[in-house]
Amino acid sequence: MTTRRLTDRLGGLAFGGDYNPEQWGPEVWKEDDELMGRARVNLATVGVFSWALLEPEEGRYDFGWLDGHLDRLHAAGVAVDLATPTASPPPWFTLAHPDAMPVTPEGTRLTHGSRDTYCVAAPAYRLAARRIAGALAERYGDHPALALWHVHNEYVTLCHCDHTAAAFRVWLRARHGSLDALNDSWGTAFWSQHYTSWEQVLPPRATQWHQNPGLLVDFRRFWSDETLAAYREQRDAIRAHSDRPVTTNLMLPGYQNLDLWAFGREVDLVTVDHYPTEPGVGAAADTAFGADRARSFGGGAPWLLMEQGTNTVYAKGRVLAKEPGEILRHTLGHIARGSEGALFFQWRQSRAGAEQWHSAMVPHAGPDSRIFREVEAVGEAVARLGELAGSTVRARAAVLHDSDAWWAMDVDGLPSTELDYHATLSRAHRVLWDAGVTVDFAHPEQDLSDYRLVLAPALLLLSDAGAANLRRYVEGGGTLLVQHTAGAVDERMHARLGGYPAAPLREALGVRVEEYRPLREDEHIALSDGSRATAWSESLRTEGAQTVAAYTHGMLADGPALTRHRFGAGQAWYLSTRLDDTGYAALAARLIAESGVVPELPGLPAGVEAVTRHASDGRRWHVLINHRAEAVPLPESAHDLLTGAQANELAPGGCAVLRAH
Ligand code: GLA
Repeated sequence: MTTRRLTDRLGGLAFGGDYNPEQWGPEVWKEDDELMGRARVNLATVGVFSWALLEPEEGRYDFGWLDGHLDRLHAAGVAVDLATPTASPPPWFTLAHPDAMPVTPEGTRLTHGSRDTYCVAAPAYRLAARRIAGALAERYGDHPALALWHVHNEYVTLCHCDHTAAAFRVWLRARHGSLDALNDSWGTAFWSQHYTSWEQVLPPRATQWHQNPGLLVDFRRFWSDETLAAYREQRDAIRAHSDRPVTTNLMLPGYQNLDLWAFGREVDLVTVDHYPTEPGVGAAADTAFGADRARSFGGGAPWLLMEQGTNTVYAKGRVLAKEPGEILRHTLGHIARGSEGALFFQWRQSRAGAEQWHSAMVPHAGPDSRIFREVEAVGEAVARLGELAGSTVRARAAVLHDSDAWWAMDVDGLPSTELDYHATLSRAHRVLWDAGVTVDFAHPEQDLSDYRLVLAPALLLLSDAGAANLRRYVEGGGTLLVQHTAGAVDERMHARLGGYPAAPLREALGVRVEEYRPLREDEHIALSDGSRATAWSESLRTEGAQTVAAYTHGMLADGPALTRHRFGAGQAWYLSTRLDDTGYAALAARLIAESGVVPELPGLPAGVEAVTRHASDGRRWHVLINHRAEAVPLPESAHDLLTGAQANELAPGGCAVLRAH
């Protein structure tokens, strides 16, 4: 089952959002029908947080109200993305199954009154979730309004309870085979942590001092697998009654409780939520980051933006407005990168409840508002892009991304608290985005031969297979940039001995790192090529590589900082420090030029985003977004789907979707 079916059913790209009619009454529902028509809404996500209404007491379902809304939406020409409500169990569930409430590392058992309050490893929760998913599928599996299934909402809750402990032990037995192997893997000889029975093994509950890094990373792997199993159970309960595609909306890029590559393999189409946390061009770059990730998790297949806001959510503690035109720019930022449309949280701004100040397509002020007028315009724009459905994006550059590596950087006791996985990854993406290069994310163990340029900015943990794969990539002709701390530990969190990084990668890089030397806070160092660096330095020696830039002061003076090694048919670069923005951009420009990665639409200035979507029959569209404050002439005039006319230039902040010749 593919997303093709979704867009076929919709007759174009998706536009709409979370729709919670249970918060309103008949007068408002009538207005909703009219306004959805005006805004060209064709897909509404229904039922995300409706468990208490759908199952008012254990085992007794009330579907009557939902029947009415589905029929009404269908009559209004709006298809339904029907959610299972399992992200928010009702109060009766808590009282009946207190053991299914999540427990914090400190041992506090949480209770209802918010949402996301459940333990995914608790049998009572899993059973209740399967049951309601199956009941919904049985009733609505072939409802004519139904276009998509939305399992749960943002699986995110972590738990440390006894159910979790029991399930963790089962997982550990399967992974390690024996207690001896587990002791060896976790290095329990240190700090007297040796386990003599499985019952002694606990989830990472609060401890006096640093926790065991092997335990921490294994727990994250386990939790992701456990959550994926919970997703699969619901999906399969649905599939028994319905042939519509099934998905779950994945969390924002900054959260990493799940191995999203694994989820990407189990959903019928990847869907993600995205709320930038800074305004302006930073939000646009972050949009591209989230969208490129979403596409990559699904192996390049079309995907769908399940939620965005009509304002920026919580930028440093403030809910900032999106500037006029920004909703369209963000929408097209996602569509450019393969999204089959754009949905919002939520349709109508709630008048009560925990998110009453969260933005919506219809704000408190009602339809006579700037926001609704922009929403109407964006709906109109998306409606004009139907011919893009099913087309995909082709990137020749990739940034390596691995959940294990993220979790490895989350443990205590690393040499610097400035080692930040998410920030490092998004900076590497940003430097290519600024240069106008379309980027995939790729897993370090996947076939990389389609990419001319690969960046490995944050691979503290690198498996043996990953290290061998990167070496193969370079040998086969690729250009690889590896950044500091990469390959320092293996998949068990054991340090690599004899010099970093992992041996096969070391050979490809032609360097051997001997010592990590984090810099003092605010310490800046100069490199011999004039660039400046912060945060980190390393003592290394070349073993075949050429020094491109050397350190210029202190103990490392004259030692290599940036190196390059021709290896096989390719070249491998090693950057042992953190360059400032100018230096990093200059390095990226050099790598882009040397690897032969070309912008998809040459002739545009910096600040104009351009991504091409390719149909399987050879048709192409350039999606252009002008982040500059002045008009920009187009390299050649072309038909713009947004206006239905020839376009010769982009207005300040303007967008175009050009049919390529
Ligand atoms: C998430 C949720 C929504 C809503 C938004 C608010 O993405 O899925 O229910 O809470 O955040 O930003």
